[in-house]
Amino acid sequence: MVMLHTLAFMAGTAIAMPHLMNDPVALRNARDLIARRADHISRATQDPLGVSKAETNCGPVSCPTFSEADQHITLTGQYAYASPGAGDIRGPCPGLNAAANHGYLPRNGIASIEQTVAGLGTLYNLAPDATAFLAAYAIATDGNLAEGMWSIGGPLPADPISAGLLGTGQGISYSHNSYEGDASIGRNDAYTNHGDAHSLNITKFEAVYALGGPEDRYTLDKFRSRFEAVQDESIANNPYYFTGLFSTVVVVPAAYNFVINLMSNHSAAVPSGYLDGYNFKTFFGVSGNPGSFVWNRGQERVPEDWYRRPSYNPYNVPAVVEDLAIGYAAYPNTLKIGGNTGKPNSFTGVNVADLSGGVYHAETLFQGNNFACFAFQLMQQGIPDFLNNAILDLGTVTSFINKYVGSYMGGLGCPQLGQYDLGLFDQFPGYKYSPTGPATNYRE
Ligand code: HEM
Repeated sequence: MVMLHTLAFMAGTAIAMPHLMNDPVALRNARDLIARRADHISRATQDPLGVSKAETNCGPVSCPTFSEADQHITLTGQYAYASPGAGDIRGPCPGLNAAANHGYLPRNGIASIEQTVAGLGTLYNLAPDATAFLAAYAIATDGNLAEGMWSIGGPLPADPISAGLLGTGQGISYSHNSYEGDASIGRNDAYTNHGDAHSLNITKFEAVYALGGPEDRYTLDKFRSRFEAVQDESIANNPYYFTGLFSTVVVVPAAYNFVINLMSNHSAAVPSGYLDGYNFKTFFGVSGNPGSFVWNRGQERVPEDWYRRPSYNPYNVPAVVEDLAIGYAAYPNTLKIGGNTGKPNSFTGVNVADLSGGVYHAETLFQGNNFACFAFQLMQQGIPDFLNNAILDLGTVTSFINKYVGSYMGGLGCPQLGQYDLGLFDQFPGYKYSPTGPATNYRE
């Protein structure tokens, strides 16, 4: 695997779009970097880089071989499908919901880091580095740090022992701007749906489903192009549209890539993986046909005879980052930091140099490790805004998260910087919009 130290951390980043987008030097740098890093991918000729279109469903590194023993997923016995029970939690993430419905995550939807790493590794071959970080971030911002647990959906049930001291988190269903963000694949923007960004919008699903085309196949490139279209729809319809720091710039586009990399069937016939409409619908809990699709809430499942990506190519942090970077290079309009100012179609970009006190500049953002460092620091700087309990100590939270990204970030040699000027976001009403959830689980 080509290590992408030069690019972002989980990060997407990028930034003050109008400036970056209009700057040919910055764009050229970005493109050169991506091209160098992805030189193992055979070139196609149809997009500006050819890289996005050339990628297989295994991501930046190919998966040329298949092993039945390694890749077959057991869906019987302890891993048999069962619909969630009355007290079980499900949320905005079909990958997590399906894992819980098959017992690869605890069926109640509440997990520790260890359970998450083991379960998602076995089921999807999502690598420990990426999984541990994702779970740690969920615990720190929207979970229960004292007990080291997080919820894949709504608020954690009150714990009489610790609730009084540390409180419990809202879960990722109500993690708007900390984890969950606008312009999702199938969920509504929180503001335009009364705070509910975890239920599938079947019309939105139908639009992305149509990308399969007559060949009935989905690719990373098709999903990246869809991300741009969904952003445009959100900007046109959501007066509170906001590219929350880590959430909308990293998590949301990463989720588009997760569908292809982790839900594709990496079968003997197609070791690099394919995703067809049947697999896509099954993972998303959707039945029926276009025009009459039905979302079966909480019924996300793993298809029969489905093979995960191979052990020799886990989907790890460098691959997640590389896929984000390839997407941003191929679809530069998707690189945005800013928001609508209270009306539809009022998107205003924030300048990266202003935001970072001059430490980063759009012109050099894709040079060296800048992209990685900027994104990581963006995430860290956003944490105080998103802590759901003022009693939690910021230092404790930050060092908890750092434990899971320290080894990756340690090698990057990031520049020291002071405080990001998050005040620049005050002009965007979506920045502080923070819906909270019901006292129960995914059942409204
Ligand atoms: C610890 C691991 C994970 C965490 C904490 C996590 C968290 C999240 C969150 C917060 C969202 C909402 C983002 C948004 O606003 O669009 C989301 C969406 C999503 N996630 Fe995950 N996720 C994890 C693993 C996975 C895996 C393993 C897969 C695929 C197998 C996956 C696929 C998706 C998809 C497809 C969406 C978008 C759903 C939609 O918009 O309809 N995630 N995830």
